[in-house]
Amino acid sequence: MLNTKPVFDVRQVSFEYEGKQTALDHIDLSVHAGESLIILGANGSGKSTLLKLLDGLYFPTGGEIQAFGNPVTEEALRDDEFNFAFRRRVGLIFQDTDVQLFSASVLDEVAFAPLQLGLPRDEVNRRVDSALEALRIEKLRERAPHRLSGGEKRRVALASLLSLNPDVWLLDEPTTGLDPRSQSWLVEFILKQRNEGKTVITATHDLTLAEEIASRICVFSEDHQVVAAGDPQEILEDHDLLHRCNLAHYHAHHLERI
Ligand SMILES: Nc1ncnc2c1ncn2[C@@H]1O[C@H](COP(=O)(O)OP(=O)(O)O)[C@@H](O)[C@H]1O
Ligand SMILES: [Mg+2]
Repeated sequence: MLNTKPVFDVRQVSFEYEGKQTALDHIDLSVHAGESLIILGANGSGKSTLLKLLDGLYFPTGGEIQAFGNPVTEEALRDDEFNFAFRRRVGLIFQDTDVQLFSASVLDEVAFAPLQLGLPRDEVNRRVDSALEALRIEKLRERAPHRLSGGEKRRVALASLLSLNPDVWLLDEPTTGLDPRSQSWLVEFILKQRNEGKTVITATHDLTLAEEIASRICVFSEDHQVVAAGDPQEILEDHDLLHRCNLAHYHAHHLERI
């Protein structure tokens, strides 16, 4: 897999649930290494669906997705070598962390990815310790993930991705359920990943988060189409666009114009 290729190339991708419920309508999008791309869209616009497609969990009903220059298809992912290479490079944090966490303890959860990679036990332990430390959840080590608070669960999910150390982070509404201090911490965390050269794709409708972490913003309409993509400042100052896409209240829009 060559580094010069875009991380993702999404070409005319459509997706319908059960053959009728449109979630994505002819999406075109290229994502380059080292970007912090925000997928900005109202509820139901298709953000989570796109992230699941990028993670190879669902497959387009129309169009094509390439990752690192290779088509991501059901067939391609049946190949063990491709699957392994893809899974170690790309990681998704679900919007609903409850469906993500499945281990009996936080320790097992965070050790899962490095064990899957077949890393030696010493390296697994080193990764687990450093991920728990980075997320400041050492004290939760022996706890059952499903008995944690929303914010703690999100940290565990982030730690389990950190122990995998993917090149590409897919984050779905990552600030949901976090208190203000954890939110600022998350922003720092994302910026740090970006400084380390990782590619971060974040789905959100949170304009503040977008402003804080985006190097580029892609806007989804409620019709499941890409209606704008580009410079964060330009997009965040386009109040008509944000209003049209149900991302800002008329009230806020009105006040900001005064
Ligand atoms: N499992 C599902 N079955 C049927 N329709 C779904 C399902 N998940 C999402 N949808 C529909 O697909 C569209 C996009 O949803 P989603 O990707 O979750 O949007 P977002 O993450 O932007 O809120 C919505 O209209 C939603 O109702
Ligand atoms: Mg969503």
